[in-house]
Amino acid sequence: MKSLTAYKLGNLALKNKIVMAPMTRTRATNYIPTNLMAEYYAQRASAGLIITEGTSPSANGLGYPRIPGAYSNEQIEGWKGVAEAVHAKGGKIFVQIMHTGRVSAKVNMPEGATIIAPSAIQAAGQIFSETGMQDHGMPKEMTTDDAIQTQEEFVNAADRLINEAGIDGVELHAANGYLLDQFINPKSNQRTDKYGGSVENRNRFVLETAQKVADKVGANKVGIRISPFGVYNDLESEYKDVEKTFINLARGLKEIGLIYMHVVVQEDSFGVTDARTERQLDLRKAIKKTFEGTVIAGGNVTTIETADAVLNEGFDLTYVGRPYISNPDFIERLTNNIALQVPDPTTFFGVDAVGFTDYSFA
Ligand SMILES: Cc1cc2nc3c(=O)[nH]c(=O)nc-3n(C[C@H](O)[C@H](O)[C@H](O)COP(=O)(O)O)c2cc1C
Repeated sequence: MKSLTAYKLGNLALKNKIVMAPMTRTRATNYIPTNLMAEYYAQRASAGLIITEGTSPSANGLGYPRIPGAYSNEQIEGWKGVAEAVHAKGGKIFVQIMHTGRVSAKVNMPEGATIIAPSAIQAAGQIFSETGMQDHGMPKEMTTDDAIQTQEEFVNAADRLINEAGIDGVELHAANGYLLDQFINPKSNQRTDKYGGSVENRNRFVLETAQKVADKVGANKVGIRISPFGVYNDLESEYKDVEKTFINLARGLKEIGLIYMHVVVQEDSFGVTDARTERQLDLRKAIKKTFEGTVIAGGNVTTIETADAVLNEGFDLTYVGRPYISNPDFIERLTNNIALQVPDPTTFFGVDAVGFTDYSFA
């Protein structure tokens, strides 16, 4: 039952150790968070911490249709409504800042936006759009100026989310093949400047971004999500220095003082090969040992036993994704041993309240 006991995350008092995992739900209107989204997150406020869906820091990062941004006044106003609704229910909420980079298609983006990435390498596979599946677009290789500007976008989004919208903190999305992960992974990063090649160079963009965001809003309000061994969005899983890469990253993030590292556990159920191997677990433990601070792990957690098992492996908090889609009262169900409702995947990326705010409470 230790998953249901309180936890101190920096200055934040979490009611329990269950973290609602970030999940893109595509219900924003014109990239603006809506009242319906505020209701959805407020329904889930009994989680120890909510991490929102991936949210773009700029027009260039809006690779999917109907995802929210955090760079215009209207978007920040929308996030303010979300923060107020969650806080009114006693919840805590971080917004995940996701720049999609090359995982994008022009039709999904606002006029004038550009698909950018560390290298001009098109991601294999397709992406959904309002008009059906599309090939990923060919990205423009980022110049040094683009890199600086993009980092500024992360800083501004974090600053406005926290200081104007009243969001408790931000999570930098450096997992699952989006822009920050595209820098880390040698399959998408073939640069020959200071951002490519060696472990230190591939991690540089992420560490610089984390440092700049932390300098602006305080390191105790900034977490990060990573996905070692991930192949989602056409990345390479087992390149030469994978362990070295993430240990080096953990060391850098510890120095910056980020509030947590959130590590995606690769499973075959979510488009990934190489299920929970010893090698993955060993790396997660090495990350914990190096970073020392709070580490979140999880995946396929549906019972109190599976939630506690993550803590028993030495991690501090447990993330829960899909069960949160269909069980707004996940905590109450676990507490009272009430069966979970099964989520409907056909409405994961829906357009309205159906499959979003209409799952019932026990
Ligand atoms: C519909 C859906 C959308 C997701 N969107 C995101 C996202 O925006 N950012 C992210 O880091 N992970 C995203 N994920 C991954 C989840 O955070 C989580 O890692 C994954 O669902 C596995 O956990 P689970 O077994 O508890 O569902 C998404 C997953 C689903 C099912």
